[in-house]
Amino acid sequence: MTIQPSDKPLLEWAGDSLAIGLFEDAVELTGELATLDQKFSGVLKELIAEEEFKGKANSTIFTRVNPGSPVRKLILVGLGKPDVLKLDTLRRAAAAVARVAKKQKSKILGFSFPLWNNDPAASAQAIAEGIELALYQDIRFKSEPEDKGSQIETVDLLGFGGQEAAITRANQIVSGVNLARQLVAAPANAVTPITLAETAQAIAKDHGLQVEILEKEDCEKLGMGAFLGVAQASELPPKFIHLTYKPEGTPKKKLAIIGKGVTFDSGGLNIKGAGSGIETMKIDMGGAAATLGAAKAIAQIKPDVEVHFISAVAENMISGRAMHPGDILTASNGKTIEVNNTDAEGRLTLADALVFADKLGLDAIVDLATLTGANVIALGEDIAGLYTPDDAVASQLEKAAQTSGEKIWRMPMEEKYFEGLKSGIADMKNTGPRPGGSITAALFLKQFVKETPWAHLDIAGPVWTDKENGYNGAGATGYGVRTLVNWVLGTGE
Ligand code: BES
Ligand code: MN
Ligand code: ZN
Repeated sequence: MTIQPSDKPLLEWAGDSLAIGLFEDAVELTGELATLDQKFSGVLKELIAEEEFKGKANSTIFTRVNPGSPVRKLILVGLGKPDVLKLDTLRRAAAAVARVAKKQKSKILGFSFPLWNNDPAASAQAIAEGIELALYQDIRFKSEPEDKGSQIETVDLLGFGGQEAAITRANQIVSGVNLARQLVAAPANAVTPITLAETAQAIAKDHGLQVEILEKEDCEKLGMGAFLGVAQASELPPKFIHLTYKPEGTPKKKLAIIGKGVTFDSGGLNIKGAGSGIETMKIDMGGAAATLGAAKAIAQIKPDVEVHFISAVAENMISGRAMHPGDILTASNGKTIEVNNTDAEGRLTLADALVFADKLGLDAIVDLATLTGANVIALGEDIAGLYTPDDAVASQLEKAAQTSGEKIWRMPMEEKYFEGLKSGIADMKNTGPRPGGSITAALFLKQFVKETPWAHLDIAGPVWTDKENGYNGAGATGYGVRTLVNWVLGTGE
């Protein structure tokens, strides 16, 4: 499928399906649209009246046009009220159109959409992202796919002449999102610490990044006792991934992105019981997936920013070698941790990854993790929790998320709650009381960052969706990649 800008006048466009975006309560046809309606013998006006189309955001209707006309079908999509038009409204509307056009088996699709904020580049990028994200499908694990996929060959973005770069940018970003989706959706017998390290090496090779994989012995030498404690019960070796993108010339900023990479979370000896969702715990490397997806996108975009992509990857399993609840681990900064719950393993792996990144002399670190069920209870399935003591990094991430359409909400880092992590025998416990569980998790992570401005995103909710949601089909969302890319680009401006 090729998405291309076009300056062809609406009235001259020919193809299978023509999609028109209309604002709420402004569906009476004027100007070019009135002429278009006349050209098609009033079919547009009739459709709007018959279906009582009001232009509500994401509502779609369509109709067939007279046989023999240069356009076979018309698709109308609502954009909501014009004064509250968001960039993400265009992205979602484009996704809704793409799904209709796929069902219609369209090959040639045209878009007539308004601009957001008089910004043709941002608008074209969002529309292209919405189309591509919505048409993604994953048939890797089906012997015979029932869905044959979209037949769309070309998409013309009418009125967006000259916006080739914006569409290229969308392609680059979506390639990263789709990598993350594939990694999260693949089960734990397909994505393991070994294969995730191989994926990092493949990204490095394909896109010219530096890559270093620290093996268990290397991690031992660095004293990564917290990470290795989580890994020790598994038959599979842990892998510590460190990918680096370096721009040509002096970088404007140096950043790290860290992702939780637990390829399966059984809970360990505090095993996840019935109804705990243990069978979904392949998703527990969603942070690492977003990190690698962002690496793939950043490597193509090539901003003037140095970025380190890091993940301490392991399985949280049970065996005769498993951590006992109550074991004391020593992290690579020398801090001791009483593991009062082996199911709070993500923060243990992140602890050593944060210490590692903190020593790199960077301007900022962001970690992403499917860290706590408590974050899902607090914010629901769609919104990631943002935890940071640093207002500047918080507003950078909020801005990046605003542009990407990925929802984040800043949560308090209530220092008093650290009392819940006090241990009688070690420096801290890894698990606090149930109330405020996502906050104590963030306060635990904070103990492992001393030098660098840092933020943590708890993505346990949005990493996955059970049903179609905006431009995401049911399944892995690739959440985080688009916000991370925007964050990196924003810091280089
Ligand atoms: N991977 C889970 C968190 C999770 C829950 C991710 C639901 C996605 C969906 C994490 O390792 C975990 O088990 N957290 C525990 C922490 C508790 C033991 C303090 C939790 O949230 O119950
Ligand atoms: Mn766990
Ligand atoms: Zn986990």
